[in-house]
Amino acid sequence: MNLLSAKNISHTFEYELFSDVSLELHERDSIAIIGTSGSGKSTLLHILSTLLKAQKGSVSLFGEDTSKLKEKKLSQIKRESLGLVFQSHYLFKGFSAYENLEVAAILSERNIDEKLLQKLGIDGCIKQKVTELSGGQQQRVSIARVLTKQPRIIFADEPTGNLDKKTASEVMTLFFEYLEAKAAAMVLVTHDEALAHMCKRVYRLENKKLELVK
Ligand SMILES: Nc1ncnc2c1ncn2[C@@H]1O[C@H](COP(=O)(O)OP(=O)(O)O)[C@@H](O)[C@H]1O
Ligand SMILES: [Mg+2]
Repeated sequence: MNLLSAKNISHTFEYELFSDVSLELHERDSIAIIGTSGSGKSTLLHILSTLLKAQKGSVSLFGEDTSKLKEKKLSQIKRESLGLVFQSHYLFKGFSAYENLEVAAILSERNIDEKLLQKLGIDGCIKQKVTELSGGQQQRVSIARVLTKQPRIIFADEPTGNLDKKTASEVMTLFFEYLEAKAAAMVLVTHDEALAHMCKRVYRLENKKLELVK
């Protein structure tokens, strides 16, 4: 099944970032987008996840053109089916890590998976306030939060940027297990080529074009 289809997307801020970008995402797909800093990777991810409206071209989610959907329906899709792991997507600071997961669990009517917390190595610190956790621990709580929601598509922007190599690789493995188990898909933005190559396909954003490199 086709989960996401982007056709001929172009975007310009002060100058044109990219044009004619097209890609498709099917069940259990994982794609990585690499490229130098400033090439527009985050902007592209924002467009694919409908946080930002495409200036040109279209983004369809689950077979529906998002520009033609009613606001309410689009919000529902975002809430129920999209999972975002962005660097600027902060946890609620006044809460404990566990309370952050509880909010996600309640909103999505899911249960918190204690095994997931163990696998992410955050079961020991989960009762602490978010502000007491290291950057790497917060990042893993964000990942636990997004997986608790059980989205159909995960959009992740440098989700392992604060983790050491070994932990980053373990977290990626968790993501892939999740994609298999739930027939979900992932778009990963990273500057780390080794992590990128763990995905089924790798694209490079360069010279305003998205090119398939693997
Ligand atoms: N909201 C915005 N308004 C104006 N320019 C922006 C905005 N967001 C990003 N840019 C610019 O677009 C370019 C690409 O940014 P970004 O998509 O974050 O690249 P990357 O994630 O590849 O580093 C940068 O030059 C950045 O300054
Ligand atoms: Mg970026």
